[in-house]
Amino acid sequence: STTLTLTLTLSCSQCTSLTLTLTLSCSQWPYCLKRCSYCNFNKYIPRSDNQDVMLECLQRETETLLKLSQVSRITSVFFGGGTPSLARPSTIAAVLETVARHAGLSEEAEVTLEVNPTPIGSSKLEDFLHAGVNRFSIGVQSLRDDDLKVLGRDHNSQHALQTVAEARRLCPGRVSVDVMFGRPGQSVASWELELDELLSVCDDHVSLYQLTLERGTQLFRQVQKGQLSVPSDDITAVMYDSARRILQKRGYLQYEVSNFARNDAISQHNMSYWKASQYLGVGPGAHGRFVPRGEGDVCREARTQTLEPDVWLREVQQRSHGTRRRIPLTHLALLEEVLVMGLRLIDGITHQHWQLFSPRADLYQILSSSSEVQDLQQTGLLILDDRGLRCSWQGLALLDSMLPTLLLLLEAYITQGLQEQQARGPIGDQRHGGQRVSKPG
Ligand SMILES: C[S@@+](CC[C@H](N)C(=O)[O-])C[C@H]1O[C@@H](n2cnc3c(N)ncnc32)[C@H](O)[C@@H]1O
Ligand code: SF4
Repeated sequence: STTLTLTLTLSCSQCTSLTLTLTLSCSQWPYCLKRCSYCNFNKYIPRSDNQDVMLECLQRETETLLKLSQVSRITSVFFGGGTPSLARPSTIAAVLETVARHAGLSEEAEVTLEVNPTPIGSSKLEDFLHAGVNRFSIGVQSLRDDDLKVLGRDHNSQHALQTVAEARRLCPGRVSVDVMFGRPGQSVASWELELDELLSVCDDHVSLYQLTLERGTQLFRQVQKGQLSVPSDDITAVMYDSARRILQKRGYLQYEVSNFARNDAISQHNMSYWKASQYLGVGPGAHGRFVPRGEGDVCREARTQTLEPDVWLREVQQRSHGTRRRIPLTHLALLEEVLVMGLRLIDGITHQHWQLFSPRADLYQILSSSSEVQDLQQTGLLILDDRGLRCSWQGLALLDSMLPTLLLLLEAYITQGLQEQQARGPIGDQRHGGQRVSKPG
């Protein structure tokens, strides 16, 4: 079976922005042609051709979740995966039509397709454009053929360069490139050279991925057995730092931990995640975060769709959706997401943004009296001022080490507030831990 992920950024009638993620599976265009040695994403190699039924189910689940969210307008769409560029362009078009029919697709909607830079993907770019895609995200990963082999990719550097060139011809200014560092055997000097080479052919957006050794992958086993070695944490920290400097010198402004843009070519879709917007997940393994207003609910839920495509298909055929798990998000869980996602942005979290989710407790109240936060501020890693809360340039590279402190402070503040509230007696909506849901849901 083949899987595709589409993410749609939506605006509902209450001016709340939503992102809709759809995962399509269809055996005619396998989810992935082969397994990359490092990847543990939810991906399947196809066993049979079920493209038509997959399309039918994707359309059906899209319709169900759109109705459930009561979204009135869509402002961005993201087809990810897996390998969505293996899908038929007509499938992409049909899903977009479904979305437009049930929620209204705005003229300016950002419609991104992830593309594996193989000759197959490259040859279909023009058709994808005609299907409604207006932004390409290309998984180049590396320009070194030997490294691409070690990663188990099914493209080489020449394919990558041709695909980027073709995508830029079709969608100038709207092409993003994924590149990976911390690869087996990589040195800082070779990484700097490679990145420089890549940037001379890139368009206006670059996403940096630091290789994570995932349990259960071939690469993990190879490293464990000593057949391959990856750079140490200290070396990858230097690689990240040098990449940031090289990108900056080339005019790419860092706007998020791993994302860089020239000419304001920021990814609108990803921005909605970092701003903790709502999103719907459609398709096998998709995740969603939205308020099911169609059920009269007012709480945001974390939803996960069934992972295995064949099971997901059956569920959609039987009950029009394959939602496997629904967890109502507490007020604390929602604020944790706002904090964790927002601090990834170079601009961090503004007081106005925080207030949308936390009208009663501002960032100063929660954080400023903590000696740990004061230390982080004094060492120049964290900034809490009239604009809001954000990492410094140096702090952004160390975000993961600061988050546990900040999350503990948030939890302590919210828990204490709850205890005080309980001592005073129940007020308002007591569902989901007695939390009132703030405006963005
Ligand atoms: C899941 S892929 C989907 C796009 C497409 N299939 C591809 O591989 O280019 C999205 C991005 O995640 C990255 N990725 C997947 N596994 C990773 C890992 N273990 N460490 C770092 N990046 C990873 C890939 O390199 C890719 O650019
Ligand atoms: S990295 Fe991309 S192409 Fe490779 S197995 Fe994972 S999803 Fe498929």
